[in-house]
Amino acid sequence: MVKSIEVKNLTHVYSAGTPFETTALSDISFSVEKGEFVGIIGHTGSGKSTLIQHFNGLKKPTSGTVMIEGEDVWANPRDVKKFRFRAGMVFQYPEYQLFEETVFLDIAFGPKNMGLKQSEIEERVLEAVEFVGLSPDILEKSPFDLSGGQKRRAAIAGVIAMRPGILILDEPTAGLDPRGRDDILLHISEYHKKMNATVLLVTHSMEDIAKTVNRITVLSRGKILTDGTPKEVFSEPELLKSAGLSVPQVTRVFLRLRELGAPVDTTVYTVEQAVKQLSALRGGKV
Ligand SMILES: Nc1ncnc2c1ncn2[C@@H]1O[C@H](COP(=O)(O)OP(=O)(O)OP(=O)(O)O)[C@@H](O)[C@H]1O
Ligand SMILES: [Mg+2]
Repeated sequence: MVKSIEVKNLTHVYSAGTPFETTALSDISFSVEKGEFVGIIGHTGSGKSTLIQHFNGLKKPTSGTVMIEGEDVWANPRDVKKFRFRAGMVFQYPEYQLFEETVFLDIAFGPKNMGLKQSEIEERVLEAVEFVGLSPDILEKSPFDLSGGQKRRAAIAGVIAMRPGILILDEPTAGLDPRGRDDILLHISEYHKKMNATVLLVTHSMEDIAKTVNRITVLSRGKILTDGTPKEVFSEPELLKSAGLSVPQVTRVFLRLRELGAPVDTTVYTVEQAVKQLSALRGGKV
């Protein structure tokens, strides 16, 4: 089956030939199968945003290739725009992307650019609004009158309304309170399931990633440090530490318990798993 994303020997250099030259990505090769839910983590400046912006043609490789659903993004530079619809991207602090007069017009912006009929646009806007848990009442409001969390949802709705086969989110929960965070992650997971979409979630939060993804890719200084299931990646705390990262809080607790001599499994990374383990330790009583 054709892969959703296939990256071969991708290098990206900013400001080449100037004193500010920075190699943000260095000879990266990696691929994502259709329907995978991948978390991309890495320290500030490790290249996460640069990497994902190659998937919808916002960035052009300095060398190497990026294939989306079997097509080379830059094979025909005049066609690059079509990848904006196939790989829908929610940017870091997406609330700054809202600029139309009403929330409706903002969410309709993507579908309109796809050249859809007005009736289809309206249907998609309503569906997307419901999907992210906003009330349709807000559609006639100005985006500037929404709360921070509502703005974030509206921006996500604008991308979902394009029904992209690949959904990419750059730190979608940054700055939200824990409830808002969980809620948005839930909607993203629902989109993943319902559409059998490929989802890429860039985040600094180990907790977010532990709860949602099937696979984790760790970036460090423009290279892939490790790639595997959450269980595999979180079983290498020292490696993560070398990249300025750490395992989720619950895993840290279990590693410490093990150090103290408790016979616990340290591949625990969600609260649910922790409860199960502790309950087993106490003979089924929590
Ligand atoms: N427009 C740009 N011009 C020059 N250098 C840039 C530009 N954007 C990013 N860089 C540099 O490229 C490297 C990778 O940056 P990138 O933004 O991709 O990292 P990131 O992992 O997304 O970081 P963060 O977690 O802070 O969002 C960094 O060294 C950064 O300073
Ligand atoms: Mg970034």
